[in-house]
Amino acid sequence: MSDLETSLVLMLKSGGMYVTREQIAADLGVSAHDLDGAIEDLRARGYRIDEVPGHGLRLVDVPAVLDDCELETALSTSIIGREIFTFGRVTSTNDVAFSLARSGSPEGTLVIAEEQTRGKGRLGREWHSPPGLGLWFSIILRPKIAAYESATVSLAVALAVAGVLRDVYGVDARIKWPNDVLVGRKKICGILTEAEFRGGSVEFVIVGAGINVLHEAADFPEELRPIATSIAMESGAEVDRVAVISRVLGEVEDKYDRLCRKGFGDIRREILPLSSLIGKMTRVESGKGVTEGVAVDIDETGALVLRKDSGLNEKAVAGDATLI
Ligand code: BTN
Repeated sequence: MSDLETSLVLMLKSGGMYVTREQIAADLGVSAHDLDGAIEDLRARGYRIDEVPGHGLRLVDVPAVLDDCELETALSTSIIGREIFTFGRVTSTNDVAFSLARSGSPEGTLVIAEEQTRGKGRLGREWHSPPGLGLWFSIILRPKIAAYESATVSLAVALAVAGVLRDVYGVDARIKWPNDVLVGRKKICGILTEAEFRGGSVEFVIVGAGINVLHEAADFPEELRPIATSIAMESGAEVDRVAVISRVLGEVEDKYDRLCRKGFGDIRREILPLSSLIGKMTRVESGKGVTEGVAVDIDETGALVLRKDSGLNEKAVAGDATLI
């Protein structure tokens, strides 16, 4: 998307009224020829631009697919999304973001795809990522934190997503440690964090999030239907994917900024009341084995604290948690 196309979309969006070609060319300081080209390109991308002789142009509709211009003009963030890579189809946005991060892409780079052919879930699982229904995206972050604190980044992102679902869409979203967002027992958003470390510090973190937005129950494979849900299913409202991502990224930027400036303590206080595990008997399975106990806290490094039958606390730093 050229700068001219972006400016043109912003201009047409801002007024909502008809504007003549002459007026647009003068305001944007471009030739009539360049403007014709930009209008043609935007129409080819799915922007519906109406023209009435004597009145001018008006933006009637924007593309139904995720479009980088749509994203750029919708985002109000300053760091997250300052570089955006959009794909129609990609193996995994996390894999693309990881390569970009290795070759020096800056903090805040966003990789987003309409469809993933090998979407990755946690613990080697597959993430169902069909076209047109969800938001599948990854963000490159470069927090100055120790390796053992990296779990705090995905918890901050889970809080951002849960906050938007609750406040904007009226969905009773909860955070399931270490980084899922659930409604009841059904997953509405999964987060996969992959990091590269140097010494004991984080070099970069790729936070990949999959948000189920427009799915109806039949859109999920049968085996996922009992355990997956979407914003549309939970809110019963018409939902616009660009509006969702713009709000989510705004919240992610806010939480991440607080995490970097003040540490995890502040964010942790907001996570605890939204946790689906705190106060409940929980089992955590990890490479180190199985731990069971009542989840009583999430500590300052993002670890889940379980109170065992013996009365002693044990911390889980990673793993798969289930209620028992
Ligand atoms: C999970 O719940 O197991 C985590 C799911 C994470 C899915 C997202 S979709 C965007 C990004 N790219 C991937 O391949 N995975 C994450």
